[in-house]
Amino acid sequence: MHEQHHLLKNEAATARMAQAIANCVIAGDVVFLEGDLGAGKTTFTRYFARALGVTGRVKSPTYALIESYELPSNATKIQQLHHFDLYRLAEPREWFSAGFDEYLSTAAVVFIEWAEKAAGALPAPTLVVQLSHVDEFVSDDELNDSPRQLTLKVSDEAAGRFLDLHLD
Ligand SMILES: Nc1ncnc2c1ncn2[C@@H]1O[C@H](COP(=O)(O)OP(=O)(O)OP(=O)(O)O)[C@@H](O)[C@H]1O
Ligand SMILES: [Mg+2]
Repeated sequence: MHEQHHLLKNEAATARMAQAIANCVIAGDVVFLEGDLGAGKTTFTRYFARALGVTGRVKSPTYALIESYELPSNATKIQQLHHFDLYRLAEPREWFSAGFDEYLSTAAVVFIEWAEKAAGALPAPTLVVQLSHVDEFVSDDELNDSPRQLTLKVSDEAAGRFLDLHLD
């Protein structure tokens, strides 16, 4: 795994980073999103989906556990984005019994929040996106736009693709 650290000073910076990562991702990639409640995992996914041309609502898969998006045909060969939030997965084997394994496809990019809830059932990720709050205390009016620390962990196979993230 190759590790990179970035400071995202506000939500716009998160959006630019999601865009930059969208430019490096290819069909078949599996992305784990890690971080506390409210760290920005779903927000990051929303900007990523937008960067790939998703125009409709991108909502948190909190209750459904999965939301899927068909991507417009564009320069990439990615046909779908599947976004999981496994927070409410009762146990890892439910990943299989719910049929979720079938969403892993060479035509799709799969984003997974709370992957640890399916420990042992998931493939090794291409990329791990870790988001964390920077400030221990954030005042209410800063909640909607505050800094995040980002750690990217890229698999050895994919490391070359993510070396040169263009952030502007
Ligand atoms: N720099 C930032 N990057 C991302 N989100 C930010 C940033 N600054 C503020 N926010 C806000 O923080 C919130 C992040 O919520 P989000 O639902 O994305 O978190 P989450 O990690 O998916 O949480 P959960 O584990 O509950 O699913 C959003 O309201 C977003 O607008
Ligand atoms: Mg979320």
